[in-house]
Amino acid sequence: MTQLPGLLDIEAIRKDFPLLDRVVHDGKKIVYLDNAATSQKPRQVLDALNEYYEQHNANVHRGVHVLAEEATALYEGARDKVAAFINAPSRDEVIFTKNASESLNLVANMLGWADEPYRVDRETEIAITEMEHHSNIVPWQLLSQRTGAKLKWFGLTDDGRLDLSNIEEVITEKTKIVSFTLVSNIMGTINPVEAIVRRAQEVGALVLIDASQAAPHMPLDVQALGADFVAFTGHKMCGPTGIGVLWGRQELLEDLPPFLGGGEMIETVSMHASTYAPAPHKFEAGTPPIAQAVGLGAAVDYLTAIGMDKIAAHEHAITEYAVKRLLEVPDLRIIGPTTAEDRGAAISFTLGDIHPHDVGQVLDEQGIAVRVGHHCARPVCLRYGIPATTRASFYLYSSPADVDALIDGLEHVRNFFG
Ligand code: ALA
Repeated sequence: MTQLPGLLDIEAIRKDFPLLDRVVHDGKKIVYLDNAATSQKPRQVLDALNEYYEQHNANVHRGVHVLAEEATALYEGARDKVAAFINAPSRDEVIFTKNASESLNLVANMLGWADEPYRVDRETEIAITEMEHHSNIVPWQLLSQRTGAKLKWFGLTDDGRLDLSNIEEVITEKTKIVSFTLVSNIMGTINPVEAIVRRAQEVGALVLIDASQAAPHMPLDVQALGADFVAFTGHKMCGPTGIGVLWGRQELLEDLPPFLGGGEMIETVSMHASTYAPAPHKFEAGTPPIAQAVGLGAAVDYLTAIGMDKIAAHEHAITEYAVKRLLEVPDLRIIGPTTAEDRGAAISFTLGDIHPHDVGQVLDEQGIAVRVGHHCARPVCLRYGIPATTRASFYLYSSPADVDALIDGLEHVRNFFG
């Protein structure tokens, strides 16, 4: 097997992931390269979910019985784990949602209902980028339509990076919020956080970072990022589906209004008015995703035990190898950075004029799982004049052999389509 510096002990890690032993299409072992869509789950997370339901299941914050106390301790314990994982100054700054989309929508709605100085209205502006996932575009379009605020965005350079040359026109004295992805889900680009945060702070705008494609892959320190809010999801980082996170600075969470009303988010209710619980509960109406939070806590334990810096180094080595080998494939065009620097492990490409759906189907027949389409980032495809891409995305269990399988698979695709 190809050896690369910085790799994790892949064989040992793969033993933790039962799904990676799946055999598909008459005897082909799965080569799972769709990690940017969702990751596989280690046995440690599956066991935590089972144990929760078999031994502790109850509703949280409500009961006096032993199960309710255990469930509450597990749920709040997961919050402690997530807070430590992202270096949050306080556990009360960690809000559980159902996914990153909900986290991003939550901020848009907080600002839409907020009073001064946070209020977004027709005199103000919102700044995003052309490489956002739809979940970081549509909530801002909705907010802009509702309030009359002007939506602006950074364009892209030909090599798949943000064009910040007009930063002073995109982020102005009128900007209330700048929301951008740390790592592009379609191109893998890692964005220059510092320059954007510096400009936002100059004009007094809030900053929201979508870390959905970063939290699973690299150390994430919300204090070092300098943002006001950070959103990510559990299912891309070895956790279950149905759990997302919004981290926000404490004073903002105190000042900003809730979005969803219901049980658990209140302090007191009368028929005339209600007062709200302090954050994070103010933003967690109704029964929360309890088992899912416990599963996310187990995922955080799992990733932490391996070490996020080691996972980042592993993925860097795999990505470097994959980019090099992909560039050797005739007619293959990478959409996004073609160096392994400043890029994550999601690599999009086109192959001659073969439609990505056909590429994906022929790869699937060989047991290789990739994602095809616009990856919920259609403006990127429009920008580069393509209908769709094929995207291979790697994770801590990906091996050089997976890359080799992809390259062989693409050779097969080329032969198949002549
Ligand atoms: N956001 C996920 C992806 O990029 C679903 O595939």
